[in-house]
Amino acid sequence: MEKLYEGKAKIVYKTEEPDKVVIYFKDEATAFNAQKKDIIEGKGILNNKISSIFFNLLEKNGIPTHFIKQLSDREMLAYKTTIIPVEVVVRNLATGSIVKRLGITEKTPFNPPLIEFYLKNDQLGDPIICYEHILALGLATEEDIKKIKELAFKVNQVLKDFLKNIDIILVDFKLEFGKKDDESIVVADEISPDTCRFWDAKSGERMDKDRFRLNLGDLSKYYEEVLRRLEGEKS
Ligand code: TMP
Repeated sequence: MEKLYEGKAKIVYKTEEPDKVVIYFKDEATAFNAQKKDIIEGKGILNNKISSIFFNLLEKNGIPTHFIKQLSDREMLAYKTTIIPVEVVVRNLATGSIVKRLGITEKTPFNPPLIEFYLKNDQLGDPIICYEHILALGLATEEDIKKIKELAFKVNQVLKDFLKNIDIILVDFKLEFGKKDDESIVVADEISPDTCRFWDAKSGERMDKDRFRLNLGDLSKYYEEVLRRLEGEKS
């Protein structure tokens, strides 16, 4: 298959149909804008399976996504989109970069949830930007941003409620949005423990990429546990 794009964790391939792509999940793990790197065997498989479950869940709840179906352990079929170069973060509890940047106490709840925008640009280290920057830089229109915010909050509600049933707290997550050929905006990229923070509701343990970022170890074990709980819940 012809490669369309290769990122840090995934490869996108062309298919025979011009509006569809295959997304291949790699085992590479990076943090701090790829200053920290490793290969974690099987991570790609876990993220593909977990993302597929989440995209299915969103679709069932009327949220449009790029997802069509899981093809194999490491591959998903998706609609081809033009990615809007804005990373959208939704936070329910304060942790990570916001604690450092603004001096907020760890675990402070955000009611309503907080939404933030970051410019998707590795060379610049994905800097935080505001609504006006998005318009000024022509990254998206007012109408697009309105839709993106509405979808991001809906995704938060659906995922948070679903995860609560399996004793996982959805602390925060990052979404990317894409435009399909018909100009409609859909949730794209992946939704996995690489792009979300999941805390075990009982033990408080981190079940996400912070295990790698903070050198806590056992990443695969925790990703497997997330998948195990999701599979138990969906059936
Ligand atoms: P942050 O607290 O480091 O800003 O991260 C917020 C959320 O976004 C967290 O769930 C992890 C996710 N995230 C990504 O998916 N990709 C990234 O490059 C970064 C920095 C965070």
